[in-house]
Amino acid sequence: MRLVLIGAPGSGKGTQAKFLIEKYNIPQISTGDLLRAAVAAKTPLGRQAKAVMDAGQLVPNDIVIGMIRERIMRPDAENGFILDGYPRNLEQAEALDNLLTSLGRPIDAVLQINVDFDLLMQRMVGRLTCLSCGALFNSFTNPPAIDSQCDQCGGTLHHRSDDNEETIDRRLRVYETHAQHVSNYYSNKGNLHVIDGQGTVDDIKKRIKSALRGLRSSRIKLQPAPAQPAATPANAQPEVIRTQIAESLKPTPKRKKREAAAIKPEVKKRPKKAETAAKAKYLHQLKAMQDELKSVRKELTLLVRTEKKLTREVAKSEAELAKLTQQQAEL
Ligand code: AP5
Repeated sequence: MRLVLIGAPGSGKGTQAKFLIEKYNIPQISTGDLLRAAVAAKTPLGRQAKAVMDAGQLVPNDIVIGMIRERIMRPDAENGFILDGYPRNLEQAEALDNLLTSLGRPIDAVLQINVDFDLLMQRMVGRLTCLSCGALFNSFTNPPAIDSQCDQCGGTLHHRSDDNEETIDRRLRVYETHAQHVSNYYSNKGNLHVIDGQGTVDDIKKRIKSALRGLRSSRIKLQPAPAQPAATPANAQPEVIRTQIAESLKPTPKRKKREAAAIKPEVKKRPKKAETAAKAKYLHQLKAMQDELKSVRKELTLLVRTEKKLTREVAKSEAELAKLTQQQAEL
């Protein structure tokens, strides 16, 4: 099953992904978690991403798309995955479709979790995440039994650095800029399920379950796993099914092309020329991130200056007013 969870920051994508992992036995792929892992590992990408994430902005598409492509190609995602926090804009949605179409593994359902913005601030300001097992708590709505300690594994609970009011506000505004486009994109494709994200975690889980009821992964028809027919005794299959399986395993030109495309990123890494191109692309992405940061800093400096100017003007007006009041009293 290939599922996509979209929704505002704090809408409960990560919380609901946890139950979907168990239900379908597929991995959760969270771009936020992948980026935070790069930050924790202090890789060059992580160092750049941290500044962008702390500013509440989106990490450039090229980086995130590359990251998702690499993650989806790993063997544990072969039978499906839950994308959490990806795609965030139209370009990411189209890139995902292109990749999955080339693999013959389309998205089965997109779940959009809707929550009023007023509730989101409290959810994120109170969020606590276990550094060991990833369990989620909330100091207001779902506090741990012991402060800063995970109820499930005893690990340390951590408060995300981007979960402060100022950054949350910016993240919500960034979300608003792109949300409708992404929602319309999937609605037009006919696989969007809008879920009311208000209520208890269990209420929402039930709504998701009901939206997914009866849904089957479309990949079964496109790419049957090669191991299955071999493991099944030939005489246990009706003739017609055996023929279909044999047919579906034939290396048709289309399938060959698809498989070649699927292993392309691995092969691409080896030649020197490609490495140079990748390095240049990476430097280009770094530069784009630096430029974006520069413009955010510039904007902040301007705001601070304006605030100072306004404060001075207010002080001046207050002094003049006091002077006039005094003159009036003297008269
Ligand atoms: P990311 O980590 O994806 O953050 P997000 O989108 O802001 O989403 P959250 O993880 O904050 O919320 P959630 O919906 O998972 O809520 P949760 O279940 O935890 O991204 C972080 C940053 O990385 C981005 O700002 C960006 O910079 C970058 N990034 C990531 N993906 C990117 C991409 N594709 N492109 C570019 N940049 C990207 O729940 C929140 C809290 O609420 C928890 O405490 C939980 O316990 C509580 N809660 C959940 N459900 C309920 C409920 N029903 N009732 C009460 N409390 C609840």
